[in-house]
Amino acid sequence: MSKTSENYTRITTRTLSEMKAQGEKIAMLTAYDFTMAGIVDKAGIDVILVGDSASNVMAGHETTLPITLDQMIYHAASVVRGVERALVIVDLPFGTYQADSKEALRSAIRIMKEAGAHAVKLEGGRQIKDSIERILQAGIPVMGHLGLTPQSIYKFGTYTVRAKEATEADQLINDALMLEKAGCFGIVLEKIPAKLAKKISQKINIPIIGIGAGVYVDGQVLVLNDMLGMNKEFSPRFLRRYRNLNRDISKAVNNYTTDVKNQDFPNNKEQY
Ligand code: KIV
Repeated sequence: MSKTSENYTRITTRTLSEMKAQGEKIAMLTAYDFTMAGIVDKAGIDVILVGDSASNVMAGHETTLPITLDQMIYHAASVVRGVERALVIVDLPFGTYQADSKEALRSAIRIMKEAGAHAVKLEGGRQIKDSIERILQAGIPVMGHLGLTPQSIYKFGTYTVRAKEATEADQLINDALMLEKAGCFGIVLEKIPAKLAKKISQKINIPIIGIGAGVYVDGQVLVLNDMLGMNKEFSPRFLRRYRNLNRDISKAVNNYTTDVKNQDFPNNKEQY
């Protein structure tokens, strides 16, 4: 009988490679705090990413660039305290790994030690090869991230699909091969054509997790706040909204406000 991820009491990087080998898809979501991480973990998610998208959805910044290492560690430590089973991967924020590989290692070590994370994720390919190799040599599992890498948004100038042209697609394939050879345990591919993502996941033995990269990859990731419909404005084609929490929370708050004003809350049973 083939093992499914439900049979694992703890998901590790090794579990993910077994899942790829057995053709079982990997489900990954972001989380940024203790309460949500606990709910997501108990609901059976395989991987939780403490994404630097916290910069957008938690702090209200326009891009992921402003979030700091201390802030990422705060979010990550909160998530780790809420999780019993899922693998917790944490983004290295912009400016903490690009300058040199020693700084990259120091940043990764802080995330592992101070937050209790299980792995780190870095955006980019050959430009950050030294940083990736140094972190891996220290025994820290690394996930790569290629395609639309939001930390490079000012270089791209747009959030549209990447690697539609052959040159960029070839470069992306080479970067993915490099990440695999270096020893990364997985790669996130963001907003690239589904055909290209399919080619990469067939060519490469480590798990490929897609966001806006089609169905022919080894797993999917979404930003939790987006898939729960907490945000009305952000509507890319790849996003499926499983709830409309923006509407539900607004209604609840509105009902509460009305009840307080009408002295309907608290009632006799809700007081001492
Ligand atoms: O920061 C993030 O949430 C991410 C995902 C979009 C993959 O990197």
